[in-house]
Amino acid sequence: MEIAGIRLKNPVMPASGTFGSGQEYSGFVDLNQLGAVVTKGVSCVPWEGNPAPRIMETASGMINAVGLQNPGIDVFIERDIPFLRQFDTKVIVNICGSTVADYLEVVERLSGQEIDMLEANISCPKPVPPRWRWGRRISGTPVPCRRSSAGWKSTWRKTVSGT
Ligand SMILES: Cc1cc2nc3c(=O)[nH]c(=O)nc-3n(C[C@H](O)[C@H](O)[C@H](O)COP(=O)(O)O)c2cc1C
Repeated sequence: MEIAGIRLKNPVMPASGTFGSGQEYSGFVDLNQLGAVVTKGVSCVPWEGNPAPRIMETASGMINAVGLQNPGIDVFIERDIPFLRQFDTKVIVNICGSTVADYLEVVERLSGQEIDMLEANISCPKPVPPRWRWGRRISGTPVPCRRSSAGWKSTWRKTVSGT
């Protein structure tokens, strides 16, 4: 199958955040069997996530508010990309931030890295005062969402194609 011109050998891929960055599950699942690994969200600096409790069982499943805990782009580039590249699977990196500039920084840092696709988390941008309104705007309405993603796309295209 093909997504945005990238060929995947099958459509099986974990939802971002449910599979760590691949390494955590590699003892249980052969990553070579997956169409792609979608990583947990990565931000330009490390995020601790929300204080506990952040996972709760309910009668019909569970609810969670992990808060996009992640080690930041430096560790991700040094540790996770080389690990994932050992496997015959596509690598889709989920990016997150508190501002448009944050996202752009992650996109720029990922330029030249051996990854196949970006996925932007805009459903729960970290609401950091005084910018928390931006988080609401981008996830709630199409225009800021389109404008922001246009910026990421042009930065990505520039870094990928060199033009
Ligand atoms: C523990 C946990 C962590 C998650 N972390 C992320 C994340 O880092 N980035 C992201 O975009 N989505 C994250 N998600 C959301 C999932 O990728 C997915 O969108 C969500 O579970 C809904 O999937 P469903 O529609 O198949 O139920 C997380 C979900 C869970 C349960």
